[in-house]
This record gives sequence, C-alpha cells and structure tokens, in this order.
Amino acid sequence: CRKEPISIVVLGASGDLAKKKTFPALFSLFYHDLLPDDFQIVGYARRDMSDDEFRELILGSLTCRVLDGRKCSEKMDQFLPRCRYHKGSYASEEDMASLDKLTADFEEQRGVSNRLFYLAVPPSVFEDACHSIHRAARGAKGWTRVIVEKPFGRDLASYVHLQASLSSSFSEEEVYRIDHYLGKELVQNLMTLRFANSIFEPLWNHHHIESVQISFKEPFGVEGRAGYFNDFGIVRDIMQNHLLQALALLAMETPVSLSGEDIRNEKVKVLRQVKPLTIDDFVLGQYKAANGKPGYFDDDGVPKNSTTPTFASCVFHIPNRRWEGVPFLMRAGKALDERKAEIVIQFKPAPGDIFNVPESMKSNCLVIRVQPDEAIYMKIISKAPGLTSRLEQARLNLFYREAWEESKDIPDAYERLILDAIQGEKSLFIRDDELRVAWQIFDTALKQMEGDRAPKPAAYNYGSAGPIEAERQAFKLGLQWIHD
Ligand code: BG6
Repeated sequence: CRKEPISIVVLGASGDLAKKKTFPALFSLFYHDLLPDDFQIVGYARRDMSDDEFRELILGSLTCRVLDGRKCSEKMDQFLPRCRYHKGSYASEEDMASLDKLTADFEEQRGVSNRLFYLAVPPSVFEDACHSIHRAARGAKGWTRVIVEKPFGRDLASYVHLQASLSSSFSEEEVYRIDHYLGKELVQNLMTLRFANSIFEPLWNHHHIESVQISFKEPFGVEGRAGYFNDFGIVRDIMQNHLLQALALLAMETPVSLSGEDIRNEKVKVLRQVKPLTIDDFVLGQYKAANGKPGYFDDDGVPKNSTTPTFASCVFHIPNRRWEGVPFLMRAGKALDERKAEIVIQFKPAPGDIFNVPESMKSNCLVIRVQPDEAIYMKIISKAPGLTSRLEQARLNLFYREAWEESKDIPDAYERLILDAIQGEKSLFIRDDELRVAWQIFDTALKQMEGDRAPKPAAYNYGSAGPIEAERQAFKLGLQWIHD
C-alpha cells in the first residue's frame, strides 16, 4: 500500500478542523514514514491563497507529537513542497473539474489515481461537496474514498436524508465516517482487554456487574463555538457518537473476526438491543458564570431563551441475556471541574461478606481512563500492611506512561484514522446502519428536549462537577458516580 501513489485532498483546508487535526496528523504520519512514498496533498477551500501561503498555514498549525526538532524541520522541508492549494467553491463542478486536472497532472506519469478526499467542511456545504466530487473529481484509475466528519444530521430523519444524498454519490465502501474517539488508544484497547484476556469475560455480565459508567468531562465552555454548539447540544456533540461507541464496544458480543464488517455487525446488534431513550432517562444542565468564568449565555452566539444542554447524564438499559438489569450510566459536560474521559465497570460486592467491608469500598471497579494520562486499573480491597486487620481500597495499576516507553508518544486519534482510511481498513469507522440505530436510540429524547415544551436545564457553576440532579439520578438507582 505504501508503494501506491495517493492524492489527499483536504476540503475546508483553511478551517479549524483541518488546521488543528488533519494537517498535523498528515505531517506526523509523514514524519514516521507511514504515508505512501509518493503522495501529494491538495488543500481546497473558498478563500484565495497561494501555495506558499497554504504551506505557511500548515506550518503554523503544527501541534503534533513530533519531538525531535532537527529531524522535524528536515522532514518539514520534504513535506511542504508536496502540499499545494486550489481555490474553489464546494458546489461548483467547474472548480472541482479544475481540481481534477491539477490532481491528474501528478497522477499521469504514475498511472494510478487513488484519491482520498477529507471533508473538513461545515454541514451546510457537505452535500454539494459530495456531489461535485462525484461528478467532476473522482480518480479515473484507482479508488476514491471520502472521509466525513460529524455532524451526520441532527436526528434520525435528517440523517436518513443526508445518507440518501451521500449514497447517490458514493458507495458505502467508499465512505469513511469518522468518530475520532474510536482512534483513541484506550478505546482501541477495549476489545483487546475484553477478548484477548480470559479473566474478564466470565465476569462481564449482569451476574457480576453492578453498573457501567461512562463519563466525558471538559474544563472549558463553548467559547467561540456557540454557533455550532447551540444547534446541536451536548447529547449530539458527545453522547450519541463518542460515548455510545464506547458503550457498544463494552457491551457487544465477541466478533467472529477482527474484520471491520464483523466488528461492526456486533456493534449494530447490541445497539439494536439498547432501549431507546426518553426525556425521563435524562438530567440536563447548562453552565452559568462562576469563578470568574463566563456562563453559557454570555457567549454572543447563544440566544437568551436557549434550552440547549451543555451537560447531560442518562441511563441506558440493554435488556438482553448478558445485560438485563445493569444500568449503563453516561454523562458528558462542558465547563466542568476537570478534563477526563473514563469508563468504570463497577462489580457487585462479594457475597457472604465476612469482613464487614465498609459500604464505600464494597465494589471492585475496573477503571479505563481514556484521557488524560491513559491508564487501566482495578480498585480492590486489601488488608493494610502491618499488625492490623484494617481494610483499604488499593489499586492494581496499568499506567501507560510507566508501562511503555512508547506511551510518551501516543499518536493522535486522527493519525490512526487517516492511516486506516489510506489502507482501506474500516473497523474504526462508523457504518451506515450503525449510525441509523445510534440516532434511533436518541431520537425520541432529543425531540422531547427541544421545541416549545423543552424543559429548562438545571444551572450548574462553571468549573463545578455538574448539576447535583445527576448525582440524585444515580442515587435513585441505588448507585453513585464513582470518582477516583
Ligand atoms: C468533538 C466535540 O467531537 O470532541 C467537541 O465536537 C469536543 O465539543 C471534542 O471538545 C473532544 O475531543 P477530545 O479528543 O479533545 O476529547
């Protein structure tokens, strides 16, 4: 695959996503000799820019993990000349045809025209861009693939519409729907942890598991992104995609093989068994000014009557043979007290307790810390050392930074995903039917959260742990959110 030349076209080349994620990931792949030997990168956007200005833009946006300064600048000198810019409108077939010509010039002597289009464009131009690529810029002698980013619609109906339009231009085989959480190291490790070890599987069910808790916390608000965020809210931004993917990987059965189709078949199967949510399964919150930080309404892009949640917690049930009766708690929020994405599997207390273990220590927990500071650890009960019979909670630790030298240099999720798309590996991308069922799970609740009868989210302080109502929600189930 490294031998076949490739053209990578980044649409929306001057936008935030391209600058923050796509170009740094591409350069890092090049730096690590993972891009095909023969490649060109073409930036495509509406604004005027020369090739040199485009190269400056790439240079200025390098936030990648590359450490060695000297090697980095040598590699950069080799990378930048392969990057070119083409100005064009996304809807214009004429502009796309001139992109095709530019790309074809590179491909002509090579006899192959593999083209990867990365659509880092706003949802409003997404369909037009797909159509014009299809009509005017497909590779003539090789494959064409498109990487697309969320939002994939706002609900089930708009997703179905969008997908119908996308599929009139590209086959499912050609479409790579990104959920960047699937590219995160610890999310990739979930399957290995479950299916390559023998100790977890016998316990991985309702006989032994009390609850599963999936959390996403961010310590900053929507600063600068309110225009997008207020239309979508935290449920669409984080839960329906990133966290639901983690839930599927935790709850699914063993796939037949590691092929993309087999893995995604299992994810779809378990997602179809998830009970669709209603508003009663949710607690919603909105942050307010505190600790010298602005509230949600202080952002210019937020209408004064907005009921868009910036925090949500909810409870899933999967009434199948493995999970009947096990609550899957999920929460996600902006402007909270810390940055953390974490999964906690809480086990049932040991039966016939001869130790009188205090209530607060009773459950063993398996913690999978996705970020920051990747780790997997078990919380167990242990006798404190010495002439005592005191019990303490202790940890069996797998801290990545201590266990592996390489963990200082964990690739960004986008590197993994772009590399997979180049190699035609689809297991970390979302399939059409998977996304459909993901929307089905949230559709009713989202409708109930919006419109004239939308409930007012509970206010919580910027920098706090979120609304107290989320703790009460867990408490009503006889649970509490597990903190470190
Ligand atoms: C994006 C959301 O998908 O994920 C953002 O749109 C969020 O709102 C981001 O900040 C979080 O990603 P990460 O990789 O920083 O956890």
